[in-house]
Amino acid sequence: MEIVMPAQTETVNKLQEALESTYSCFLITHYCHWNVEGENFASLHSLFNEQYNELFAAIDEIAERIRALGAYPFQSGYSDIVKILQTPPVGKAGPMLKALVELNQKTVTSLQAVKNAAQEAGDDETVDIMIARITAHQKAMWMLKSSMG
Ligand SMILES: [Fe+2]
Repeated sequence: MEIVMPAQTETVNKLQEALESTYSCFLITHYCHWNVEGENFASLHSLFNEQYNELFAAIDEIAERIRALGAYPFQSGYSDIVKILQTPPVGKAGPMLKALVELNQKTVTSLQAVKNAAQEAGDDETVDIMIARITAHQKAMWMLKSSMG
């Protein structure tokens, strides 16, 4: 049963988008962990490993925040994630790093939208989760950018 408070509807809608974006970021990071090739293989394989583990935990936290607010994650299915998976980054490390920076940035944008909606609704707890998530993605982007040749 839907028990979302009216003031929190926007927060939940934005959380759904942030969950989708975080999930995509996780799946592509995992893909890159398996498929990266080149002279920096060992360090990138390990960096991607660290990042997809962090993202996996984040997916759970965001989905459970949606439940705590009375809504259900992925109510409208996984179609947008499937779309992203149809065009995974191929080739050497360069295109993968570029794609991952873009996905992380896209996720930060969706997390910021959640933060704004939650601030508007006075939901400090969701704001707190978003601040931690944005910080994590900013750190990930620093590491990805610093790994580019
Ligand atoms: Fe592995």
